[in-house]
Amino acid sequence: MNITLNVNRHIYRLDVDPRQMLLDTLREELGLTGTKKGCDQGQCGACTVLIDGRRVLSCFTLSALAEGEITTVEGLSGEGEPLHPMQAAFVEQDAYQCGYCTPGQILSAIACVHEGHATSDEEIREYMSGNLCRCAAYPKIVAAVRQAAPELAGQR
Ligand code: FES
Ligand code: FES
Repeated sequence: MNITLNVNRHIYRLDVDPRQMLLDTLREELGLTGTKKGCDQGQCGACTVLIDGRRVLSCFTLSALAEGEITTVEGLSGEGEPLHPMQAAFVEQDAYQCGYCTPGQILSAIACVHEGHATSDEEIREYMSGNLCRCAAYPKIVAAVRQAAPELAGQR
């Protein structure tokens, strides 16, 4: 079926299988491989993207139903541009090891702050609990979210 996707401020017109999930469309059709496939079962958060600022599991979202402005990690900062404050905080806090979960963690963290759920370490842990990290970088991820939160608060 023919669909239109708004991804990172670009409009894409695509012909996809109606059963195709957004994760596969992003990776296979658009070449946006920053969005990772972890479990492919809605359990790990590696595939998290934002749609109209809300976090969404792209492995659990049909491409044909993905209405709104989709943001992937590639859309956070362009080539040659400064990193998004959350990306910069992850780098400064060394909040990753293998990096596989990191794009999903960063997008989820941005939404976590905008939701108002980053007021304490406990709250950050609770509201980031849908994003698993096999390398157990959790303490540094919390530190990164805490660092970026003041700069992001109030932005959208
Ligand atoms: Fe989507 Fe794991 S790949 S939740
Ligand atoms: Fe390796 Fe999170 S940094 S899975």
